[in-house]
Amino acid sequence: MTTFTISPYLPSRRATLAEGQPISELMSRALDNPGLISLAAGFVDGQSLPVDIVREVMADLLGDHAEARAMLQYGATPGLPALRREILNQCTPMDSRQETLDRVVITAGSNQLLHLVAESLLDPGDIVLCAAPTYLVFLGTLANLGAKSWSVQTDDGGMIPEALEETLAQLADAGELAKVKAIYLVPYFDNPSGITMPAERVQRIVAIAKQWSHRTRIHVIADEAYRELRYKGEDVPSVIEFDDDGETVIVAGTFSKSFSPGVRIGWGILPEHLVGPVCAQKGNIDFGSPNLNQHLMAEVLRRGLFSAHVETLRSSYSKKLDVMLNAADEYLSPLAGVKWLRPNGGLYVWATLPPQVDTGPAGELFDRSVAEGMLYVPGQYCYPSEGQPVAKNCMRLSFGVQSCEKIREGIAALARAITAAY
Ligand SMILES: Cc1ncc(COP(=O)(O)O)c(C=O)c1O
Repeated sequence: MTTFTISPYLPSRRATLAEGQPISELMSRALDNPGLISLAAGFVDGQSLPVDIVREVMADLLGDHAEARAMLQYGATPGLPALRREILNQCTPMDSRQETLDRVVITAGSNQLLHLVAESLLDPGDIVLCAAPTYLVFLGTLANLGAKSWSVQTDDGGMIPEALEETLAQLADAGELAKVKAIYLVPYFDNPSGITMPAERVQRIVAIAKQWSHRTRIHVIADEAYRELRYKGEDVPSVIEFDDDGETVIVAGTFSKSFSPGVRIGWGILPEHLVGPVCAQKGNIDFGSPNLNQHLMAEVLRRGLFSAHVETLRSSYSKKLDVMLNAADEYLSPLAGVKWLRPNGGLYVWATLPPQVDTGPAGELFDRSVAEGMLYVPGQYCYPSEGQPVAKNCMRLSFGVQSCEKIREGIAALARAITAAY
C-alpha cells in the first residue's frame, strides 16, 4: 500500500496574503513587560464605557417577553430599520434629497463594512488611493484581498487634492487608471494623524474622483469613525454632502468609539448600486449583525442617551488630549527636531522625529521606549505599500486608555528614550 505524507496545512492564497497586523507582534512582545504605559492601543477609555445606560435600556428592552424573544431572534441582512432611521437622523444627517433608508446597511463594526465594500469593489491588483499615513487595519484588509494601497501625499489638512491629481495622472500614464477603484479618507480626526480635512478639500476630492472616473467609477470611501469625538471647533459636513448624485461616496460609521466597541455596531451609507452587492456578501457571511445589539443602539438613540453620552466622552477625552499636548510641550519640545500635530478631537497625536531616528522595530528607539516603560505605534505601519516612500521617523501616540497621570508619565518616558537614542 502506498503511504502519503499529508501536509498538516496547505494555506489558501487568501491565507498567505493575510499577514496579520505587525503591531500585534510588537505589542505582545512589549506587554510581557508589566507596568508598561501603553500609548499604543487605540482602545477607548474603559472608565467612561456606558455601563449604566446599557443596563437600564437592556432591562427595559427585555421587560416584555414577546418583544424580547423577537430581539433574541436573527434579524434582517441590511439591519434593523429603526436603527437605520436613527442613524440617518442623528449620526450622518444628509441632504434630504439623497436620504433613503435603503442606502443604510448595519454591520458588526465599521471594519466589517470596510471589508464588505472592499470585497465588492476590488479584484487582486486593483488600487485604492490612501493618505500617507492612513488607518493600518484597512491597509491589511486591502493586502488580504491582493489589492494595492497607493499613497498620496498629505499635509496638515490631510490628502492634498493636487497630489491626488498628480498620482492619478501618473497611474493613467502607466496604463493603470482602470485599476483605481477607490480613494480612502479618514476625514475626521484621522487615525493615525489626528487631522480633520477642511470641507473645501473633501469637496475637491469628490470632484476629482468623479472627473477621473472614466471606464470604471472611482468611489470615495469616507471612514468617519471619529466624527463624534470633537473637542474643539465646529463639526464639518460629511463628504457625502458633496456627492450630488449619490453615486460616488461611501460613508463608514461606527458606535465603537462614541459608545462601546463591545457592542460592535457600525454602518455604511452606500450608493444604491452597491447596496445589493454588499448585502449579498453579508448574506453569505452572517445574514445580519447581532440583532439584540441593534435594538439596544436604536433605543439608546431614540431616548437621546447617545448624544448625552458623547458629551461626557468629549469632556473626558478633551482633558486627556490637553494633558498629552502639555506633556509634549514640557518634555518633547526641548528635543531638537521632535514635532507633533495638535488635533481637535479623536484619540491620537502624531509625532515626527528627526529623519535619522527609526521608530520601528529595526531601530533603537522602540526597545529603549519599552525599557523606559512606554509603548507607541511605529508610524511606518501606517503607510500604503506603493507610491510615496514610507516615513520611518514617525509614531502614533494614543491618549484614550491611560489616565491623565499615566499619559504624562508615558510622554516623560518617551522623552528619556529619545534622548538616549539620539
Ligand atoms: C479609522 C478607523 N476606522 C474604523 C475602525 C473600526 O472600528 P469598528 O470596527 O470597531 O467599528 C477604527 C478602529 O480603530 C478606526 O480607527
